[in-house]
Amino acid sequence: MAVVVVTGASGGVGRAVARQFGARGDRVALLARGEKGLDAAAGEIRGAGGEALPLPVDVADFDAVDAAAAKVESEFGPIDIWVNTAFSSVFGPFGEITPDEFRRVTEVSYLGYVYGTRAALSRMKPRDRGAIVQVGSALAYRGIPLQTAYCGAKHAIQGFNEALRCELLHDGSGVRTTMVQLPAVNTPQFTWLRNRLRRHAQPVAPIYQPEVAARAIVHAADHPRRREYWVGASTAGTLLANAVAPGVLDRYLARTGVDSQQTADPHDPKDPGNLWKPADGEQGHDFGAHGEFDDRSKPRSLQVWASQHHGVLAAAGAAALLAAGALGRRAAR
Ligand SMILES: NC(=O)c1ccc[n+]([C@@H]2O[C@H](COP(=O)([O-])OP(=O)(O)OC[C@H]3O[C@@H](n4cnc5c(N)ncnc54)[C@H](OP(=O)(O)O)[C@@H]3O)[C@@H](O)[C@H]2O)c1
Repeated sequence: MAVVVVTGASGGVGRAVARQFGARGDRVALLARGEKGLDAAAGEIRGAGGEALPLPVDVADFDAVDAAAAKVESEFGPIDIWVNTAFSSVFGPFGEITPDEFRRVTEVSYLGYVYGTRAALSRMKPRDRGAIVQVGSALAYRGIPLQTAYCGAKHAIQGFNEALRCELLHDGSGVRTTMVQLPAVNTPQFTWLRNRLRRHAQPVAPIYQPEVAARAIVHAADHPRRREYWVGASTAGTLLANAVAPGVLDRYLARTGVDSQQTADPHDPKDPGNLWKPADGEQGHDFGAHGEFDDRSKPRSLQVWASQHHGVLAAAGAAALLAAGALGRRAAR
């Protein structure tokens, strides 16, 4: 039974991740701001046989994150796994995002990961064990229009995590850190993020259900020696294409990336979204793990299975080659 901390556990991917750890009987601490979402997540975990500790906290506040980590250890024992998922952002052209909004996105979505990692590492390093999972995105390598603040934060996490991994390897530490790059996922972010556009936001297809992301993240937490996991064929395709021909993608995204991220439905650009306060406040409700796109979202990904079973695939490939060779020799006789 592992002690797990999940930030951003009140909704979306983090909620689905927390549920999966809970379903296998783990002790799961849930960090986010929204108390309705946190309480509902805790209820799901307890119902599935796990133990839950909801802790309302803003991840942009290091002291609050560190105090939450201390509370987890005093209630549940030493933290084995820390998953950074919490984020917020603003959809809109760069010039329409105010400096205050940009700073807030960076403090939540980048520094929130740095603070979570520091709180986890300061406890794991003296014990020389533990796993830290950074939930990332294909946008940690590839920028897209309308998401300057988000793409900046995700790229920053990638660089931070890579540098930290080198330090841990240099020290011969038993603590592992890995990053999971996700594709588009059907979560509440498209409903509750600050959106400065006049049309409703949407993920760019193919869209996956949060449970696909959660299975990949739990697997990464259990196998954290690999430096990075890619989830979904669209993530693999984007990252490979971007490594080879980033300029072609710049032009393709300039042409398609603005429209593809918006539905035809109207949106009020004055809506403050969840940037400064959680969306499930006094008048709000629990949003859960899923967003509004269930009918367009895939419940599984063959690529995720293949990426987690390189050994099986290599053995199957070698067996197929041997069989083809034997058939070829027989036919030649
Ligand atoms: N959905 C996608 O298409 C997609 C694609 C690629 C990668 N990802 C990654 O997956 C992760 C989760 O995304 P998601 O789509 O599940 O997002 P989401 O639905 O918007 O959920 C975000 C979570 O973060 C929490 N949060 C927001 N601001 C916070 C703050 N200041 N302090 C503490 N918690 C805060 C939210 O809860 P409260 O508001 O209650 O605090 C919520 O639990 C992110 O790291 C994102 O980059 C998502």
